Amino acid sequence: MPDDQDATPPDSTHRVSTTGDVEVSTYLEIASGGVRAKAGASGRASQAVAAPPKRDTIAIMDFGSQYSRLIARRVREQNVYCEILPPDAPREAIKDVDLAGIILSGGPASVYEESAPQAPAWVFDAGVPVLGICYGMQLIAHQLGGAVAQSTEREYGFAVIHRNDQSVLFDGLEDEIPVWMSHGDRIDTLPPGFRSLAFSENSPIAAMGNDAGVYGIQFHPEVAHTPQGAQILKNFAYKVCGLNGSWTPGNFVAEAIARIKAQVGDAKVICALSGGVDSAVTAKLVHEAIGDQLTCIFVNNGLLRREEPERVQEVFGRNLGLNLIYVDGAERFLTALAGVSDPEQKRKIIGNEFINVFEEQAGTLGEVDYLAQGTLYPDVIESQTPESGAAHKIKTHHNVGGLPERMRLKLVEPLRYLFKDEVRLAGAELGLPPEILNRQPFPGPGLAIRVIGDITWEKLEVLRAADWIVMDEIKGDGLYDKLWQSFAVLTDTRTVGVMGDQRTYQHVLAIRAVTSEDAMTADWARLPYDTLSRISSRIVNEVSAINRVVYDITSKPPGTIEWE
Ligand code: XMP
Repeated sequence: MPDDQDATPPDSTHRVSTTGDVEVSTYLEIASGGVRAKAGASGRASQAVAAPPKRDTIAIMDFGSQYSRLIARRVREQNVYCEILPPDAPREAIKDVDLAGIILSGGPASVYEESAPQAPAWVFDAGVPVLGICYGMQLIAHQLGGAVAQSTEREYGFAVIHRNDQSVLFDGLEDEIPVWMSHGDRIDTLPPGFRSLAFSENSPIAAMGNDAGVYGIQFHPEVAHTPQGAQILKNFAYKVCGLNGSWTPGNFVAEAIARIKAQVGDAKVICALSGGVDSAVTAKLVHEAIGDQLTCIFVNNGLLRREEPERVQEVFGRNLGLNLIYVDGAERFLTALAGVSDPEQKRKIIGNEFINVFEEQAGTLGEVDYLAQGTLYPDVIESQTPESGAAHKIKTHHNVGGLPERMRLKLVEPLRYLFKDEVRLAGAELGLPPEILNRQPFPGPGLAIRVIGDITWEKLEVLRAADWIVMDEIKGDGLYDKLWQSFAVLTDTRTVGVMGDQRTYQHVLAIRAVTSEDAMTADWARLPYDTLSRISSRIVNEVSAINRVVYDITSKPPGTIEWE
């Protein structure tokens, strides 16, 4: 990896793991080091925000389980809205929702350890059903007067639980249920008023419940290894909490539009379009809400792929009818980047230049009060997770860049309640074309971090030509949607070749194609040899500056997806 050879390794906080197009805000953040110092008071507009309609909500208290987000995903899949809270969250943390139930997640602690996180008292006084999962179940036992003991046998992996009582939690399931266990402690004595609902070989009490709708299960319903886990979570949400699945893309879109209207009133909003799904859905939602009060700005930094600027203008300007300012900034970005080969330096320059261009353009619009941006729920969770509490790796919050402070803008973030796949569903509901909704992530600094070494227009054109062929073949073979990312990297290595009777001495091009769930980890894609073969011969034949093509077979970790 070029990174590894660098004397000063790039700051990993800037290697974001997000999907789609938070890139705009990411490089705003990177650039913001110098911006925040100049920033004045935040927020100029004094528009009162009307109270949003309350949502039926299940709160998930995160005790540090690696699965907490998965629980949230599974609950949302039942069309039930949920939010993740840190274990020390006060009741006020969810005062704006209609609380219908609480899930206590698993976690690495043992309830009897001194520093073990507890459920706050309000959880059991809220008058709503509670479901404790693994550590969450042990907390219920511990805090409500039962006893938890260390098992002699750690129970990890597949198990079968046997029901020994009727319970709506297991409605529609057999008496023997295959589940996934992962615990060292077990319930020895039930708290008063509880009865055992199921047992397994190593857990005499694998599930418990009382008449007030407080349940505990020792296994993990959220993981795929518990095949009927979704049904159990659905039973909890629908039959115990009395919810009815109203969190649908249609309802979300309608609600988001109402909220934007209430928040913005008749003020003006700007939005930076990147071509990716998050900013696209954000812009479309805001446009539906306030029409021409929204202006989108799309900056062509000269580092985009072939036909990308045209496509964005076509889709957003002509098809979707958004007010779109298109800025051709290629020359100034390339001038600013001239001679720079350090990756982080490239990122900084691009971020700063972007802010300058954006600010200049926004300045032509008169009074603007709001910046719309596509912050997603995972960004929100990360920025809320206290370092002490949960196990999530804390990453920098990528979606709040320097721009709002510098320009004194308030934020409109209609996607801050959504996971990525929900954004796509909302986008489909809004009629956005699949080519935007299913676009592979593309980094904000664009091809600047795929041309190794210093950047020139000629090198960018070579890379664009090669990248086009990669895309063409990948799409032609029906692989595009199966890959997290697939692209070309122009290395700064030259090798000898022979074409016809001529000796050549040209660039090496690398192909990178990876599969991934979330970009935190990735595996190199086992592309068919035929596809690779066609990509290679087309590139060497059609792009004269390249005479050798290599395929990157490094996974992440230890590699990263991008080369810089
Ligand atoms: P790495 O290379 O760190 O990339 O494995 C993880 C994901 O983030 C994208 N990426 C970026 N996106 N600005 C961005 O907006 C950046 O500076 C940046 N660097 C990497 C990368 O494409 C992958 O999806």
